[in-house]
Amino acid sequence: MADLQLGTRSNVRTLIRRGQVTVNGNIIKQPEYKIDEDNDIVDFNGRRLVYSRYKYYMLYKPSGVVTASASKDASETTVMDILPSDIGRNLSPVGRLDKDSEGLLLITNDGELAHRLLSPKKHVFKTYYAECDGIITQEKLLALERGVDIGDDKPTLPAKVKLLESYDNGYKIELSISEGRFHQIKRMIEAVGGKVTYLKRLSMGNLKLDETLKKGEFRELSAEELQILEKTMN
Ligand code: URA
Repeated sequence: MADLQLGTRSNVRTLIRRGQVTVNGNIIKQPEYKIDEDNDIVDFNGRRLVYSRYKYYMLYKPSGVVTASASKDASETTVMDILPSDIGRNLSPVGRLDKDSEGLLLITNDGELAHRLLSPKKHVFKTYYAECDGIITQEKLLALERGVDIGDDKPTLPAKVKLLESYDNGYKIELSISEGRFHQIKRMIEAVGGKVTYLKRLSMGNLKLDETLKKGEFRELSAEELQILEKTMN
């Protein structure tokens, strides 16, 4: 009930003791009573409570914050520091965005979904918008598309590439990749002689960043968005 924002843990204990909560139609006055989350029907003042043990949020990550599950270092602000502490337990970001990168970051306690989204076997494309210094050519675009050597054992897997704009010694590009290697986009652009000056994640699979969110804002995923994510991995 506290997770459903019906009060603090102490408030909720009082509500239960007062007899305002029923489990399968019977008033239960023991706050320590353990329910079966999958089968029991819980009502509070006659209102049905629907509890999902999993929470899914999208955050518009701003630059300047580190992607980590908890504050490791008091000198760095992490993405978990900018979220309220009462929105769920055991939440973690799904994958990483660099400190200076922005954009879509999923935060969940559904470890299984996170694992599937990140697994290269599932080929979930993550799309990034990048502004880069350097000169881009058809050959370089083709190389990015086919896979480039970024100093790892293997070249990068095939990517989807869309050049948006190119100007004097710079360009704007969208890149979709199905892997998540360390600094992958920056290293791919370096491999073709450029330098990323701005990087933003736009989507994961078919789930797009809600552009009505401001930097640093977050919201829960809708049921429809969750379905979209699930479909992305089938
Ligand atoms: N690639 C990068 O280089 N940085 C990110 O934050 C994400 C992908």
